[in-house]
Amino acid sequence: MTLQEKIADLRTRALETLPKIADEKTLNDFRISVLGKKGELTDILKGMKDLSNEERPKLGALANEFRDEITGLLECKKSEIEAAIIAKKLENETLDVTLPGKKVAKGNRHILTQTTEEIEDIFLGMGYQIVDGYEVETDYYNFERMNLPKDHPARDMQDTFYITSDILLRTHTSPVQARTMDAHDFTKGPLKMISPGRVYRRDTDDATHSHQFHQIEGLVVDNNIAMSDLKGTLDTLVKKMFGAERKIRLRPSYFPFTEPSVEADISCFKCGGKGCNVCKMTGWIEVLGAGMVHPNVLEMAGIDSTKYSGFAFGLGQERIAMLRYGINDIRGFYLGDTRMSEQFK
Ligand code: DAH
Repeated sequence: MTLQEKIADLRTRALETLPKIADEKTLNDFRISVLGKKGELTDILKGMKDLSNEERPKLGALANEFRDEITGLLECKKSEIEAAIIAKKLENETLDVTLPGKKVAKGNRHILTQTTEEIEDIFLGMGYQIVDGYEVETDYYNFERMNLPKDHPARDMQDTFYITSDILLRTHTSPVQARTMDAHDFTKGPLKMISPGRVYRRDTDDATHSHQFHQIEGLVVDNNIAMSDLKGTLDTLVKKMFGAERKIRLRPSYFPFTEPSVEADISCFKCGGKGCNVCKMTGWIEVLGAGMVHPNVLEMAGIDSTKYSGFAFGLGQERIAMLRYGINDIRGFYLGDTRMSEQFK
């Protein structure tokens, strides 16, 4: 056989073998045996040295053509094998979408968080800002700035946990009033804020008392703020929270930081005012404390009480949630029992 014939023969055999190859290892071995340094083509080309100067380039060209052809075919075959591997893998790993899935337990927000957000929405809609206070407060902000000097008898009602004689766990959210008044720039407009948060009292826990609970404080200070503004605001709040038919009633009360002070009642949402177990037959339910900001509280914040006035209110969130949902034990809020939380999805 001439060298040309040998190449042609090698080509015929190669084209016959190639389609039968089905895995990468065999393909690689085949490539080495045909095109490798010790492969058949190299072997054939060793005979080139005996060719004439005329013949030699012709054979070289033929060999290159053959090498290109086989290299191309090898590439194709390689992709083919890889695709087959992936296809096989996909086949083995198919999902049975008709199998029942694993249920993922879905949590929900605590009922107190839900009420906070609901009340925040109502006040954001009326242009209030939402302010965060400090749970660890100073005696100064918690009491003195709320018009409760050191010897004030009303301090007894709000005994708490002291960290030092001047630092304590706040007994109410009212100190946030003083802090926001201090920070507010009245040349930029009125002060309107609410501040939700946790408060602490040295109480023995039972069905209606907890040493830790939640309040939402509200404060508005501007020129010409009157009692009617307070009443209108509270009216809007209770109608949005308890229903459009709810009426509001203000009773005189006492808080050191407001003058006059009131206790706000709403007409009973269960009986509509006729008298039932929720309103203890009175037709009214007490929901919050409020009043006109005491001039001393304004003055201590450097606000001229002859030019400015304000109203404030404070509501206990647990109490509102208990009334609204008929919860009869305050401890239920803190036990983390999912049977409780799941009822408020
Ligand atoms: N801080 C009071 C308390 O914890 C609640 C309260 C009453 C807040 C009247 C007020 C208010 O802002 O005006 O008992």
